[in-house]
Amino acid sequence: MHDPWPASARWGANGLTIGGVDAADLVEGFGTPLLVFDEADMRARMRAVRASFPRVTYAVKAMTCAAVIRIALEERLDLLCASGGELLTCLHAGASPERLVLHGNAKTDEELALAVRARIGCVIVDDEPELERLGAIAVSGGVVQPILLRVIPEISVATHEAIATGHAESKFGVPLAAAPAVARRASETAGVRLDGVQAHAGSQLLDADAYIGVLDALIDVTVDAGSPPKILDVGGGFGVTYGDETPLELAGLGAALQARLRERGVDAELQVEPGRALVANPGLTLYRVLTVKEAGGRTLVAIDGGMSDNLRPALYGAHHEVRAASAVAGAPRTVTVVGRHCESGDVVAPVTTLPGQLARGDLLAVGATGAYTYPLASIYNRFGRPAVAGVRDGVATRWLRREEPDDMDRLDVILGTPWDAAVPSAEGGAGT
Ligand code: LLP
Repeated sequence: MHDPWPASARWGANGLTIGGVDAADLVEGFGTPLLVFDEADMRARMRAVRASFPRVTYAVKAMTCAAVIRIALEERLDLLCASGGELLTCLHAGASPERLVLHGNAKTDEELALAVRARIGCVIVDDEPELERLGAIAVSGGVVQPILLRVIPEISVATHEAIATGHAESKFGVPLAAAPAVARRASETAGVRLDGVQAHAGSQLLDADAYIGVLDALIDVTVDAGSPPKILDVGGGFGVTYGDETPLELAGLGAALQARLRERGVDAELQVEPGRALVANPGLTLYRVLTVKEAGGRTLVAIDGGMSDNLRPALYGAHHEVRAASAVAGAPRTVTVVGRHCESGDVVAPVTTLPGQLARGDLLAVGATGAYTYPLASIYNRFGRPAVAGVRDGVATRWLRREEPDDMDRLDVILGTPWDAAVPSAEGGAGT
């Protein structure tokens, strides 16, 4: 049986404990909503992936903050960035540039120049025009930039359509048929060094065969291009447990991919780019119940967060488990958990069971929120983004402070300017 909760989560007489810290103490210290990470669980997952594949880059988009970036670096993972902004955060967090990889389907010249200037380890080039632009920027900087070429593997995978990326019409990468020619072109382009090819078929994949298909497609491209690769990167997307899904078994997948390389007589290093598989399940979000009401035959439980701190249910119809984090009595009853945003679509869990006596003030835990919640968070309705804490061996550490009203006003340059609020009246007086 698989469950979505962090390895150290325990439900006892006082409610939920995570990393040896009571949920009640966590919210007393940091408030709600609170995104909490079980650090030991995150490290264990990173180690397991690291043990299963020769080269691992953590896709920092899944959870982008200095604490997680540093943990990934300590666990000997490199970092995959989707933008100049993510690159800068990794650099500011102390990553050495050679451990950074930049990808993206539409990079600006500024992002390419930043990558070259910072001397990052690899740029994943998305199309031929970008290859030319990057080559020129690298030549003018006197740098030879290592690259991988992104290929559309032309594989359809079973996942939500918004996170499938390997189908023929995908916006990410070079179409399969054109890829060998672009790879040959890359080998001749000054300023770049082609180290291999990359593809990413999609996210939240639970089927190992998709990766074998990607690997075969990559090998075919390098064979047709006549350029033996140093690195073959099959992307990320390893699926995790949100409800009761069986996650991809990574040691087995690593072994199967290595076997495929041997079968095909290819001597290249396998690279993977997991995000979610490392951080989703070690994270959960604690909320306080603000109100419980009956409407249209349903019991609605409203919490002090919602689509601004976890967009996944609204955006993908994603399922997240909900449990009481306080000790609450009462026979389980079926409820709908909603957020407090001004939209009916702000539903956290359409149908779930919670203890019958759950009431205002109680704490709820929403599971597997460690990936793609905080990075997709917004300041909609100006609740502010939640605080983030790490827990380990009974100790809680603040990773990100809560976003306060002043933080949200910071970008509003008009707010700070003087303003005469008097509204002129029709008689020309100052009004009443
Ligand atoms: N590599 C590439 C090229 C990617 O585009 C992605 C994710 C990854 C690796 C990491 O995928 P992961 O292992 O985390 O599944 N917001 C969506 C997921 C978007 C994924 C974008 N690309 C969600 O909440 O499900």
